[in-house]
Amino acid sequence: MERKVVLVTGSSRGLGRSCIIEFAKRGYDVVINYLHSEKMAESLKEEVEKNFDVKAMVVKADVSNEQQVQDMVEKIIKIFGHIDVLVNNAAIENNSEFAEKNKESFEKVLGTNLIGSFLVSKYVSKFMLKCQSGRIVNISSNNSIDKYDSSTVEYDVSKAGINILTKVMAKEFAPFINVNAVAPGWILTETNQSIDRELDGTFIKSESEKILLKRFATMEEIAKIVFFLASEEASYLNGEIIVADGGSQNV
Ligand SMILES: NC(=O)c1ccc[n+]([C@@H]2O[C@H](COP(=O)([O-])OP(=O)(O)OC[C@H]3O[C@@H](n4cnc5c(N)ncnc54)[C@H](OP(=O)(O)O)[C@@H]3O)[C@@H](O)[C@H]2O)c1
Repeated sequence: MERKVVLVTGSSRGLGRSCIIEFAKRGYDVVINYLHSEKMAESLKEEVEKNFDVKAMVVKADVSNEQQVQDMVEKIIKIFGHIDVLVNNAAIENNSEFAEKNKESFEKVLGTNLIGSFLVSKYVSKFMLKCQSGRIVNISSNNSIDKYDSSTVEYDVSKAGINILTKVMAKEFAPFINVNAVAPGWILTETNQSIDRELDGTFIKSESEKILLKRFATMEEIAKIVFFLASEEASYLNGEIIVADGGSQNV
């Protein structure tokens, strides 16, 4: 049987990388997209092809650039012939005082996180609709729901936009493509671990105190939820935002 194909945007490192490993483990051919981290993307391809009986492809593309997105999707279709699952994961943030924020910082973050998710979905969905099947999983954040802050307003707004984009696309692509989102809380990524080291181990400890489970999610835990939403087991979920934050203190 032909293997299914997943494209995970921004999968050279962090959660995207864990999603690639989760899908490869489950027998998917995987497309690793990156913008700057070429070596990490190439070494992930090697690791996946060595450990699992699947094919991996690496594509450099800036998800906020429409031409690059279009070229990336065409390249994937040329090689694999289809894309069964899209995970819109690529994102950036800008942590700064509200007064220091400006048009450029808003455009940059919205361009990658929100417009990027829209653009990749637009081009991938064309092929999914032709096959009358597909899954899109958007990576949101609990910052879009109850953890927003003025220091990350561009990011928080972009993720709130992703929640609405999820619901709109679920409606637009019905009944052929299921579109859902995961809104994680803190994840134990390399970036968060390095922030913790800079702050002498106080960051993860103090933030964990605010979570009912008293810890950050592992990347694998969130990748498993992403895989679930793309799987047959989630066939009747559509237009949902699944909050995976270990439990809010406000419940
Ligand atoms: N970390 C958390 O605690 C947390 C919590 C809630 C939600 N999330 C969400 O989870 C997702 C992954 O987060 P993470 O912490 O794993 O991120 P990360 O470690 O910062 O990695 C971001 C990834 O996105 C890629 N990327 C950035 N801009 C891009 C662009 N314009 N085009 C293509 N790729 C681009 C990066 O590729 P290059 O390195 O090649 O540039 C990298 O692979 C994001 O959507 C984030 O908002 C994270």
